[in-house]
Amino acid sequence: MHLNILVTAGDGIGPEVTGEAVSVLKEIAVQGGHDFSFTEKRIGGVAIVLDGTPLPKDTLDAALASDAVLLGAVGGNEFNALPPDKRPEAGLLQIRAALGGFANLRPAFAFKELAVNSPLRPEIVDGADILFVRELLGGLYFGQPRAWDKAKNTAFNTMVYTRAEVARVARIAFQLAQKRRRKLTSVDKANVLEVSQLWRATVNEVAKEFPDVTVEHQYVDAMAMHLMNQPRNYDVVLTENLFGDILSDESAVITGSLGMLPSATIGGKVNLYEPVHGSAPDIAGRGLANPLGAILTGALILRYSGGLEAEAAAIEASVRKVLEQGFRTPDLARGNKEGLTVLSTKDMGAKVRGTVKEQLLAVSS
Ligand code: IPM
Ligand code: MG
Repeated sequence: MHLNILVTAGDGIGPEVTGEAVSVLKEIAVQGGHDFSFTEKRIGGVAIVLDGTPLPKDTLDAALASDAVLLGAVGGNEFNALPPDKRPEAGLLQIRAALGGFANLRPAFAFKELAVNSPLRPEIVDGADILFVRELLGGLYFGQPRAWDKAKNTAFNTMVYTRAEVARVARIAFQLAQKRRRKLTSVDKANVLEVSQLWRATVNEVAKEFPDVTVEHQYVDAMAMHLMNQPRNYDVVLTENLFGDILSDESAVITGSLGMLPSATIGGKVNLYEPVHGSAPDIAGRGLANPLGAILTGALILRYSGGLEAEAAAIEASVRKVLEQGFRTPDLARGNKEGLTVLSTKDMGAKVRGTVKEQLLAVSS
């Protein structure tokens, strides 16, 4: 299998964590006889500084010519005073829009070994396995008009969805639910917002194509609570852009660290892969960052862009294995460290890399 992967590492801990993800993917290539090529381009704050724009044209061109884009993280404190369209985050939103992927898959699962990191009781999180499907190209993030009218001391954004935009992401969520536990929870605010009423009506229509999937609807405020009370109740959770942004960060509580969560954005011209965590400028460059979210994101590249299910599963099994063996990055080793070995970003990457070969043999036998 040949995969031409564009790496846009971005800011803060982005370069450190994507470096480890790439090294694990290279190991998979060696073991499986695959041909993965990696090209690096700038995005975000680093591109603002060096190219004067958060998404340089050659980055976008390379992204459109690639088979998959692996993004690290964007953002930094030095850009906080800039308006939204000049910030590093604008580069991320521009590349999302240009690549066209509208279904952002964010799996949130509880590793047994990390249950102590969650403030929730182990019996609550144990076995939780949720797949968030976040609509990524609509809603408040992209709706027009939007402005901050300083003269009038007024600012506004527009939450807008068309039926077609809701139907296409709902269809992907239902298809994914069919391959899982066949339950779909759609999250909206239909007691207040017309856009949520359209959302709910459309999800109900699409549901008729998938009679084997059970559908329920939740208001986003109630869902924020249910997710913490009974995370095991949920299988596929479908929601719009901003609600999905908020709920996916909240779900990091289930996993115990935001540093563990991967994501894949599918449905467009080229799939975009990014860990859910941000650029964490406070710990950047110090070897403290957890690369497992980025490494698990690498597994999603193999699954959704390469069709390499066994290889993706081998990476996931390797991550589980190193956790079982007691290896942790500092974010995962708070409190009682007995029996644990705390590793740097690079050493954690090396542990996973060193485990991939045996796990590949295990999953393919
Ligand atoms: C995410 C991030 C982004 C978002 C930011 C960095 C623009 O929070 O991927 O969840 O809001 O989508
Ligand atoms: Mg977010």
